[in-house]
Amino acid sequence: MEKEFDGLDEAFDNDANVIENSEPFELFNKWMELAEKHEINDPNAMALSTVDADGMPNVRMVLLKGMDGESFTFYTNSESQKGNELAHNMKAACVFHWKSLQRQIRIRGNVEMVSADEADKYFNSRSRGSRIGAWASQQSRPISHRNELKMAVVKEAARFNIGKIDRPDYWNGYKITPTYMEFWMDKPFRLHDRAIFKRQSPSEAWSYSKYFP
Ligand SMILES: Cc1cc2nc3c(=O)[nH]c(=O)nc-3n(C[C@H](O)[C@H](O)[C@H](O)COP(=O)(O)O)c2cc1C
Repeated sequence: MEKEFDGLDEAFDNDANVIENSEPFELFNKWMELAEKHEINDPNAMALSTVDADGMPNVRMVLLKGMDGESFTFYTNSESQKGNELAHNMKAACVFHWKSLQRQIRIRGNVEMVSADEADKYFNSRSRGSRIGAWASQQSRPISHRNELKMAVVKEAARFNIGKIDRPDYWNGYKITPTYMEFWMDKPFRLHDRAIFKRQSPSEAWSYSKYFP
């Protein structure tokens, strides 16, 4: 028994106390800073889950583009599968998993669209190619051949020429305001650490608890 659990103390080091006394958005930022140093790419990639009109869940990766201490923002095509699912049910869950850190953060909450001004600002910060791509791609709809996409890109590039490329109405930002944030850390013997921050609504204070791994 003793030999099997050699190193058990490592599973119960003081990281947990640090977490307990943190504010979850600040803690998120600290973990993201670490991920930015250690991940080989896209530390801001998160799996985003929504549900369709029949209640069937769906999941795909998106990039986190903003965290203002209240909400987590990503951008997408509102006419895509996820866009339609969100139009039907403005709730989402997302998870960050950083292999280099062996940590994950789970988030659940209600979703709102960002203002047109905020979406414009982010859209205008993107490369010209990405902005043309947003016009050319009918995200999540069938395509006969990849050439159809190429032709759409050529057509949109010619249409805009060197002119200003406005944000398409269907290209929007969404922000998830969490009522649940869970910080998970890998520990020896799969005795992982799970720290949970919960609240009934965003206007309420967080409650803190630990879950068995
Ligand atoms: C690492 C990564 C990041 C991605 N980021 C985004 C994103 O920020 N926005 C987006 O619309 N799609 C993004 N995608 C593509 C989506 O995963 C997905 O294929 C696309 O949005 C269509 O999903 P839907 O049909 O469920 O709407 C990303 C994919 C990967 C692998």
